[in-house]
Amino acid sequence: MLSFDTDGDLSQNYKFLIGAVVPRPIAVVSTINENGTHNLAPFSFFNAFSARPMIVGFAPIRRPNTGEKKDTLVNIEREKEFVVNFVTEDNADLINLCSNELPYGESEFDFAGLTRLDSEKVKPPRLKESPIHFECKLRDLISYGDHAGAGTLITGEVIKVHVSEEIYDNGRIITSRWRPMGRGAGNDWFKTDSIVEKTRLTKAQIQK
Ligand SMILES: Cc1cc2nc3c(=O)[nH]c(=O)nc-3n(C[C@H](O)[C@H](O)[C@H](O)COP(=O)(O)O)c2cc1C
Repeated sequence: MLSFDTDGDLSQNYKFLIGAVVPRPIAVVSTINENGTHNLAPFSFFNAFSARPMIVGFAPIRRPNTGEKKDTLVNIEREKEFVVNFVTEDNADLINLCSNELPYGESEFDFAGLTRLDSEKVKPPRLKESPIHFECKLRDLISYGDHAGAGTLITGEVIKVHVSEEIYDNGRIITSRWRPMGRGAGNDWFKTDSIVEKTRLTKAQIQK
Protein backbone atom coordinates (compact mmCIF):
# COMPACT_ATOMS: atom_id res chain seq x y z
CA MET A 1 0.00 0.00 0.00
CA LEU A 2 1.22 3.53 -0.76
CA SER A 3 1.26 5.98 2.16
CA PHE A 4 2.09 9.65 2.60
CA ASP A 5 2.24 12.32 5.31
CA THR A 6 -0.06 15.30 4.77
CA ASP A 7 2.32 18.15 5.66
CA GLY A 8 3.80 18.34 2.12
CA ASP A 9 2.28 19.16 -1.25
CA LEU A 10 -1.14 20.88 -1.26
CA SER A 11 -2.14 19.39 -4.59
CA GLN A 12 -1.39 15.84 -3.39
CA ASN A 13 -3.60 16.36 -0.32
CA TYR A 14 -6.35 17.92 -2.43
CA LYS A 15 -6.33 15.16 -5.05
CA PHE A 16 -6.43 12.51 -2.32
CA LEU A 17 -9.37 14.16 -0.58
CA ILE A 18 -11.48 14.63 -3.68
CA GLY A 19 -10.73 11.10 -4.89
CA ALA A 20 -11.39 9.38 -1.56
CA VAL A 21 -14.31 11.31 -0.12
CA VAL A 22 -16.89 10.42 -2.77
CA PRO A 23 -19.62 10.84 -3.78
CA ARG A 24 -19.93 14.30 -2.24
CA PRO A 25 -23.22 16.17 -2.04
CA ILE A 26 -23.15 19.67 -3.52
CA ALA A 27 -24.41 22.87 -1.90
CA VAL A 28 -25.16 25.68 -4.33
CA VAL A 29 -24.76 28.70 -2.08
CA SER A 30 -26.29 32.09 -2.77
CA THR A 31 -25.05 35.19 -0.96
CA ILE A 32 -25.20 38.98 -1.33
CA ASN A 33 -22.14 40.83 -2.68
CA GLU A 34 -21.08 44.15 -1.14
CA ASN A 35 -22.65 46.07 -4.08
CA GLY A 36 -25.98 44.24 -3.58
CA THR A 37 -25.63 41.82 -6.51
CA HIS A 38 -26.22 38.08 -6.04
CA ASN A 39 -23.42 35.55 -5.83
CA LEU A 40 -23.97 31.83 -6.52
CA ALA A 41 -21.33 29.08 -6.23
CA PRO A 42 -21.20 25.28 -5.79
CA PHE A 43 -19.37 23.62 -2.85
CA SER A 44 -18.97 19.86 -2.47
CA PHE A 45 -17.19 19.97 0.87
CA PHE A 46 -20.73 19.96 2.25
CA ASN A 47 -22.90 18.02 4.67
CA ALA A 48 -25.59 18.05 7.39
CA PHE A 49 -24.72 18.05 11.10
CA SER A 50 -27.80 18.46 13.27
CA ALA A 51 -31.53 17.87 12.85
CA ARG A 52 -32.92 20.20 15.57
CA PRO A 53 -31.52 22.79 15.39
CA MET A 54 -31.18 22.00 11.71
CA ILE A 55 -27.52 22.64 10.84
CA VAL A 56 -25.65 22.27 7.54
CA GLY A 57 -22.03 23.13 6.79
CA PHE A 58 -19.70 23.62 3.84
CA ALA A 59 -16.11 24.72 3.30
CA PRO A 60 -14.68 27.20 0.81
CA ILE A 61 -10.94 26.58 0.37
CA ARG A 62 -8.46 29.52 0.03
CA ARG A 63 -7.54 29.96 -3.65
CA PRO A 64 -4.60 27.64 -4.51
CA ASN A 65 -2.49 30.31 -6.30
CA THR A 66 -3.12 33.44 -4.25
CA GLY A 67 -4.45 32.24 -0.88
CA GLU A 68 -7.38 34.67 -1.32
CA LYS A 69 -10.76 34.04 0.29
CA LYS A 70 -13.58 33.03 -2.07
CA ASP A 71 -16.36 35.58 -2.54
CA THR A 72 -18.93 33.36 -0.77
CA LEU A 73 -16.86 33.42 2.44
CA VAL A 74 -16.30 37.19 2.24
CA ASN A 75 -20.05 37.72 1.79
CA ILE A 76 -21.08 35.42 4.64
CA GLU A 77 -18.56 37.02 7.03
CA ARG A 78 -20.23 40.38 6.30
CA GLU A 79 -23.91 39.44 5.88
CA LYS A 80 -24.16 36.34 8.17
CA GLU A 81 -26.79 34.78 5.89
CA PHE A 82 -26.94 32.42 2.91
CA VAL A 83 -29.22 30.05 1.01
CA VAL A 84 -28.27 26.45 0.15
CA ASN A 85 -29.75 25.27 -3.16
CA PHE A 86 -29.23 21.84 -4.75
CA VAL A 87 -27.91 20.28 -7.97
CA THR A 88 -30.16 18.14 -10.16
CA GLU A 89 -29.48 16.45 -13.49
CA ASP A 90 -31.47 19.28 -15.08
CA ASN A 91 -29.58 22.25 -13.60
CA ALA A 92 -26.07 20.71 -13.30
CA ASP A 93 -24.57 22.28 -16.42
CA LEU A 94 -25.70 25.76 -15.42
CA ILE A 95 -24.49 25.25 -11.83
CA ASN A 96 -21.12 24.14 -13.20
CA LEU A 97 -20.91 27.49 -15.03
CA CYS A 98 -21.32 29.23 -11.66
CA SER A 99 -18.00 27.78 -10.47
CA ASN A 100 -16.17 30.10 -12.88
CA GLU A 101 -14.24 32.90 -11.21
CA LEU A 102 -16.14 36.05 -12.17
CA PRO A 103 -14.90 39.50 -11.08
CA TYR A 104 -16.19 40.28 -7.56
CA GLY A 105 -19.66 41.85 -7.72
CA GLU A 106 -20.72 40.23 -11.03
CA SER A 107 -23.66 37.87 -10.57
CA GLU A 108 -23.39 34.18 -11.49
CA PHE A 109 -27.22 34.13 -11.74
CA ASP A 110 -26.97 36.40 -14.80
CA PHE A 111 -23.81 34.76 -16.17
CA ALA A 112 -25.45 31.29 -16.15
CA GLY A 113 -28.98 32.46 -17.04
CA LEU A 114 -30.44 31.20 -13.74
CA THR A 115 -33.54 32.58 -12.02
CA ARG A 116 -33.80 34.26 -8.59
CA LEU A 117 -36.70 33.64 -6.20
CA ASP A 118 -37.10 35.89 -3.15
CA SER A 119 -36.34 34.22 0.17
CA GLU A 120 -38.70 34.66 3.11
CA LYS A 121 -36.35 35.09 6.08
CA VAL A 122 -32.94 36.03 4.62
CA LYS A 123 -31.74 38.52 2.00
CA PRO A 124 -29.93 36.19 -0.47
CA PRO A 125 -32.31 34.85 -3.13
CA ARG A 126 -33.23 31.22 -3.75
CA LEU A 127 -32.48 29.45 -7.02
CA LYS A 128 -35.72 28.76 -8.89
CA GLU A 129 -34.14 25.88 -10.85
CA SER A 130 -33.47 23.98 -7.56
CA PRO A 131 -36.34 21.88 -6.07
CA ILE A 132 -35.11 22.34 -2.48
CA HIS A 133 -33.97 25.52 -0.70
CA PHE A 134 -32.53 26.00 2.79
CA GLU A 135 -32.60 29.57 4.13
CA CYS A 136 -29.67 29.78 6.58
CA LYS A 137 -28.36 32.08 9.32
CA LEU A 138 -24.62 31.79 10.06
CA ARG A 139 -23.78 29.68 13.14
CA ASP A 140 -20.00 28.95 13.04
CA LEU A 141 -16.99 30.12 11.06
CA ILE A 142 -13.99 27.91 11.76
CA SER A 143 -10.85 28.92 9.87
CA TYR A 144 -8.04 26.40 9.32
CA GLY A 145 -5.52 29.11 8.27
CA ASP A 146 -4.99 31.97 5.82
CA HIS A 147 -2.68 30.21 3.37
CA ALA A 148 -3.49 28.67 -0.06
CA GLY A 149 -5.62 25.55 0.30
CA ALA A 150 -6.81 26.29 3.85
CA GLY A 151 -10.51 25.74 4.33
CA THR A 152 -13.03 27.62 6.42
CA LEU A 153 -15.87 25.56 7.79
CA ILE A 154 -19.09 27.56 7.59
CA THR A 155 -22.11 26.17 9.36
CA GLY A 156 -25.58 27.64 9.18
CA GLU A 157 -28.87 27.08 10.93
CA VAL A 158 -31.57 26.28 8.41
CA ILE A 159 -34.45 28.48 9.54
CA LYS A 160 -36.74 27.86 6.58
CA VAL A 161 -37.00 24.92 4.17
CA HIS A 162 -38.74 24.96 0.78
CA VAL A 163 -39.45 21.75 -1.16
CA SER A 164 -41.17 21.41 -4.53
CA GLU A 165 -44.40 19.38 -4.31
CA GLU A 166 -43.24 17.46 -7.39
CA ILE A 167 -40.50 15.65 -5.44
CA TYR A 168 -42.29 15.39 -2.08
CA ASP A 169 -44.65 12.60 -1.10
CA ASN A 170 -46.14 11.75 2.29
CA GLY A 171 -43.46 13.58 4.30
CA ARG A 172 -40.55 12.18 2.27
CA ILE A 173 -38.35 13.58 -0.46
CA ILE A 174 -38.28 11.04 -3.31
CA THR A 175 -34.72 10.84 -4.66
CA SER A 176 -35.72 9.33 -8.01
CA ARG A 177 -37.94 12.35 -8.71
CA TRP A 178 -35.44 15.11 -8.05
CA ARG A 179 -32.40 13.28 -9.44
CA PRO A 180 -29.65 14.94 -7.35
CA MET A 181 -26.03 14.85 -8.50
CA GLY A 182 -22.81 14.49 -6.49
CA ARG A 183 -19.18 15.31 -7.06
CA GLY A 184 -16.17 13.03 -7.50
CA ALA A 185 -12.49 13.53 -8.33
CA GLY A 186 -11.34 15.95 -11.04
CA ASN A 187 -14.28 16.81 -13.27
CA ASP A 188 -16.26 13.70 -12.30
CA TRP A 189 -19.87 14.02 -11.16
CA PHE A 190 -22.21 11.26 -9.97
CA LYS A 191 -25.80 10.54 -10.92
CA THR A 192 -28.06 8.94 -8.30
CA ASP A 193 -30.15 6.77 -10.62
CA SER A 194 -28.93 3.43 -9.26
CA ILE A 195 -30.30 3.21 -5.74
CA VAL A 196 -30.05 0.05 -3.62
CA GLU A 197 -31.98 -0.46 -0.41
CA LYS A 198 -30.38 -2.16 2.60
CA THR A 199 -32.61 -2.96 5.56
CA ARG A 200 -31.13 -3.16 9.06
CA LEU A 201 -31.63 -5.86 11.66
CA THR A 202 -34.14 -5.05 14.40
CA LYS A 203 -33.15 -5.33 18.08
CA ALA A 204 -35.27 -8.49 18.34
CA GLN A 205 -33.45 -10.13 15.42
CA ILE A 206 -30.05 -9.31 16.96
CA GLN A 207 -31.00 -10.67 20.40
CA LYS A 208 -32.40 -13.97 19.07
C1 LIG B 1 -19.31 20.78 -8.23
C2 LIG B 1 -18.31 21.74 -7.66
C3 LIG B 1 -17.97 21.65 -6.32
C4 LIG B 1 -17.06 22.56 -5.76
N1 LIG B 1 -16.76 22.45 -4.43
C5 LIG B 1 -15.92 23.34 -3.85
C6 LIG B 1 -15.64 23.27 -2.44
O1 LIG B 1 -16.15 22.43 -1.71
N2 LIG B 1 -14.80 24.21 -1.93
C7 LIG B 1 -14.24 25.19 -2.69
O2 LIG B 1 -13.50 26.03 -2.17
N3 LIG B 1 -14.50 25.28 -4.02
C8 LIG B 1 -15.34 24.40 -4.60
N4 LIG B 1 -15.62 24.49 -5.94
C9 LIG B 1 -15.09 25.64 -6.70
C10 LIG B 1 -15.92 26.91 -6.44
O3 LIG B 1 -17.26 26.71 -6.86
C11 LIG B 1 -15.31 28.09 -7.22
O4 LIG B 1 -14.04 28.37 -6.71
C12 LIG B 1 -16.20 29.32 -7.21
O5 LIG B 1 -15.65 30.25 -8.14
C13 LIG B 1 -16.25 30.01 -5.87
O6 LIG B 1 -17.09 31.12 -6.02
P1 LIG B 1 -17.04 32.41 -5.13
O7 LIG B 1 -15.66 33.01 -5.24
O8 LIG B 1 -18.11 33.27 -5.73
O9 LIG B 1 -17.35 32.02 -3.71
C14 LIG B 1 -16.47 23.57 -6.55
C15 LIG B 1 -16.78 23.62 -7.93
C16 LIG B 1 -17.68 22.70 -8.47
C17 LIG B 1 -18.02 22.78 -9.94
